[in-house]
Amino acid sequence: MASLSSKMQFLGHTLNMHVNLQQAIAKLKNGEVVAIPTETVYGLAADASNDAALLQIYSIKERPANNPLIVHIADISQVTDWAAEFSPLAQKFAKAFWPGPFTLVLPAKPHVSPVVRGNQPTVALRVPNHALTLQLLNQSGLALAAPSANKFTQLSPTTAAHVAASLGDAIPVLDGGACRVGIESTIVAVQGENWQLLRLGMLPEANIHTVAGLPALRFKQAIKAPGQHLLHYSPRTPIQLFTSREALVKNSNSRTAALLLGAGAVPDGTYFELHNNAADVAQKLYDTLHKMDALNAEKLLIETPPNEPAWLAILDRLTRAAH
Ligand code: TXA
Ligand code: MG
Repeated sequence: MASLSSKMQFLGHTLNMHVNLQQAIAKLKNGEVVAIPTETVYGLAADASNDAALLQIYSIKERPANNPLIVHIADISQVTDWAAEFSPLAQKFAKAFWPGPFTLVLPAKPHVSPVVRGNQPTVALRVPNHALTLQLLNQSGLALAAPSANKFTQLSPTTAAHVAASLGDAIPVLDGGACRVGIESTIVAVQGENWQLLRLGMLPEANIHTVAGLPALRFKQAIKAPGQHLLHYSPRTPIQLFTSREALVKNSNSRTAALLLGAGAVPDGTYFELHNNAADVAQKLYDTLHKMDALNAEKLLIETPPNEPAWLAILDRLTRAAH
């Protein structure tokens, strides 16, 4: 397949349009998009106060207009540029988890464009923990709206090469190496002293409860993360999950590719193994799925991780990928 060989080429040789920090700043100030590294996944960034720039994000990603973007800011002092309310509880979260893989959804100031909010009354904010992107935010003075730099519903990118494989090599990329966390940020919505978990990330859920001090509450008017489609984070190849190694092996053949997370019998066909702790598996997960997807296998067979707190975000992404 032609598309397979060209994709392999991307994965092998990184044909991206690389830009350096100064070029990235110039492009972003000029209303252009640039793919940027964060500790979680690469984002497709644009000036969060420039609607024309934001619309390019939606169009390049083929993302529905009602799916809001996360605004990346340099530090906690910029929250009130965007949020109408920064309650004591929201401040506790921000102080505990920023910079880091944690996003706060807060009531938006009226001036915040409906384009970045996806028409929600709220705005999502995050201070990413990536040295190069913090430099970018600080030196440009911009706040950067950035969803994951992949086509809508596809796998998130954790390297510059993945960005090109999903969005094409015309997208300028600021290469900050492989992402350290590897899975999208935890998202928590806060209103007053009420909070709600919208998306699980690699931050242990217990830490969120400890910082909150109060149990999560459902808001009277439910807050939705419109992007939490069940079909999400998907390779092109169909995925099937297996809780037992025996069943996985039984379903394997020369046209399948398997991802093994534990010990046991080895399947037929190609297989990849990820071991060690959840953090390590998360860091390599999307890269491994990108590689498996490039094999043009008939089906990807995935061994599900243990049903334990540390693995829940990985289980969540795999379940959505398989839907
Ligand atoms: O780790 C991350 O969060 C990465 C990096 C680039 O920061 N970004 C990311 O963005 O994963 P994205 O757009 O792929 O996922 C953001 C999710 C979407 O499901 C979106 O619907 C939700 O956050 N979201 C954004 N703003 C929201 C809001 N105001 N209310 C509810 N959900 C919101
Ligand atoms: Mg995404």
